[in-house]
Amino acid sequence: MNRNDKTDSLSKLNRRDFLVLSSGAAMLLATDGLFRYARAATQHVLPALPYAENALEPYISGKTIGFHYGKHHKGYIDNLNKLIENTEFADLSLEKIITSAAGKPDKTAIFNNAAQSWNHAFYWQCLKPDGGGEPSAGLKQLIEASFGSLDACKKELTAAAVTQFGSGWAWLVLDGEKLKVIKTANADTPLEKGMKPLLVIDVWEHAYYLDYQNRRSDYVTTVLDKLINWSFAEKNLG
Ligand SMILES: [Fe+2]
Repeated sequence: MNRNDKTDSLSKLNRRDFLVLSSGAAMLLATDGLFRYARAATQHVLPALPYAENALEPYISGKTIGFHYGKHHKGYIDNLNKLIENTEFADLSLEKIITSAAGKPDKTAIFNNAAQSWNHAFYWQCLKPDGGGEPSAGLKQLIEASFGSLDACKKELTAAAVTQFGSGWAWLVLDGEKLKVIKTANADTPLEKGMKPLLVIDVWEHAYYLDYQNRRSDYVTTVLDKLINWSFAEKNLG
């Protein structure tokens, strides 16, 4: 793996030195806080969770994370590997697959599975045990300049997450010099829109239904108050 190839980076994730993935087939390497999404030959692999499956309890159960990570996230990666075999996408990074397949009707399945693979790896990093609270002064200032206050930012994120019709995602992104809240449907990401994602909340029902049933707003409020990882957002600002 070429450590200078930033196209293989998943995103700026938590600083860890060397993380062997659960499959043993590949690994995530970090240098200067930047993870690289590694593949063995042409296989994309499921990145390790940054915490134990039950670490987010009592707010998100180990059962939810077990299905969400072990079945849904893994399923997207397995599907992607099958779909790109012997195609022009076989040797591309996940990010390049997403931006290359976006908007092409004949590549919808590849886009969906690549984007869902990326979105979920990003989402796990957006949560942490004992999360919530306030971001550091630098990010807080930017939030206040963009939304007026941290509370206003959280309200906008909550509204985006709750009003996303059907499956999708609510994002805090950097768009140019300003922070914005956007929502995307299904597998769509800010990457193909040229925006820099800082945080995301998964609002597919599989993210919360076992714990919250139809109470999506309770799940979103709990994530923002108890689990959101502001330090990950700060790292993504760069
Ligand atoms: Fe999900």
